[in-house]
Amino acid sequence: MKAIEINSFGNTDVLNLVEIPEPIISSAEVLVNVHATSVNPADSKMRQGLYPTGENFTFPYVLGRDFSGIIEACGNNVTEFEVGDPVFGVLPAGREGTYLEKLAIDADLIARKPNKLTHNEAAAIALTGLTALVAVEDNLDLKAGEKILIHGGAGGVGSYAVQLAHHIGAIVITTASPINHDYLYNLGADQIIDYNTQDFSGTLSDIDVIFDLIGGEVHQRSLKVLKTGGRIAYIAPLLKHAEPPRNDIKIIRPNVNRDRSHLLRIIELFELGAVVAPDIQLFPLDAAGEAHNLIETNHVRGKIILTIK
Ligand SMILES: NC(=O)c1ccc[n+]([C@@H]2O[C@H](COP(=O)([O-])OP(=O)(O)OC[C@H]3O[C@@H](n4cnc5c(N)ncnc54)[C@H](OP(=O)(O)O)[C@@H]3O)[C@@H](O)[C@H]2O)c1
Repeated sequence: MKAIEINSFGNTDVLNLVEIPEPIISSAEVLVNVHATSVNPADSKMRQGLYPTGENFTFPYVLGRDFSGIIEACGNNVTEFEVGDPVFGVLPAGREGTYLEKLAIDADLIARKPNKLTHNEAAAIALTGLTALVAVEDNLDLKAGEKILIHGGAGGVGSYAVQLAHHIGAIVITTASPINHDYLYNLGADQIIDYNTQDFSGTLSDIDVIFDLIGGEVHQRSLKVLKTGGRIAYIAPLLKHAEPPRNDIKIIRPNVNRDRSHLLRIIELFELGAVVAPDIQLFPLDAAGEAHNLIETNHVRGKIILTIK
């Protein structure tokens, strides 16, 4: 089967299209014929060697964390799926390898994909949807009527989080470049700040909740605009020598575990019409390098998808 492998860390030249053996499934796993996988910023950071690797790490290595496809075979103990079922999911934390044609994955970590959600759309809302649900619903416990500030609303996680927060009934403020403002108003944003020309910390105050997808000094400034008792969750790296945080707010680093229940919630919200797939740019698997160059601009609207079938 075809896969995109790396044999060393480096620029996009290290992404190689190769033929590798198909995986053999265990009794609890299914073999998925992958139709679409998404490109996450983490893939490019991993390719560049910017993430710590465990002691079991070896080259060659296949990147990629989420996928959508069709079940081609089921392990002996798999009862809830059949060959031919369309499914989507996210690999367990610490495991990568979806830039390929066939994937072995534990059946407990996948969910059936509704037919009206395409494979490209399902892959686009798998890890991003999971991340947004864990942060906004589970950790931040956002309530109707609360004011939430979402940094980086136009990206993969932001496109999902803006819609989720709007569905919950919160007042949604987000930051984005002007080219993405109409897109975000359509997803449910109430107020959009062009972070290129306006400092949100100069105009906002008494914010109940912040979902910070940018980190760094944006995180530092964010702490100032939260009201006493406010909550902030962040998923991007913070400054190394940050000022001490306030002690009258709650600061959360979400722990995004993988499970089927969150995938079912993604489907429920899609079927309710509460969350639609983000804007998607498609690349064939063998153009993974171009896709990585694009994600490294930091200005992708929505998601990049590698199409495999
Ligand atoms: N993807 C996931 O599921 C996931 C999971 C866990 C952690 N993370 C981490 O969370 C972060 C965001 O992930 P993502 O997938 O949403 O990234 P992404 O899709 O690559 O985000 C791109 C967006 O970021 C916006 N942006 C760039 N700089 C900004 C700034 N200073 N202020 C506001 N917006 C800015 C851009 O908006 P404009 O073009 O409008 O400027 C662009 O639309 C990354 O650090 C990622 O590693 C992601």
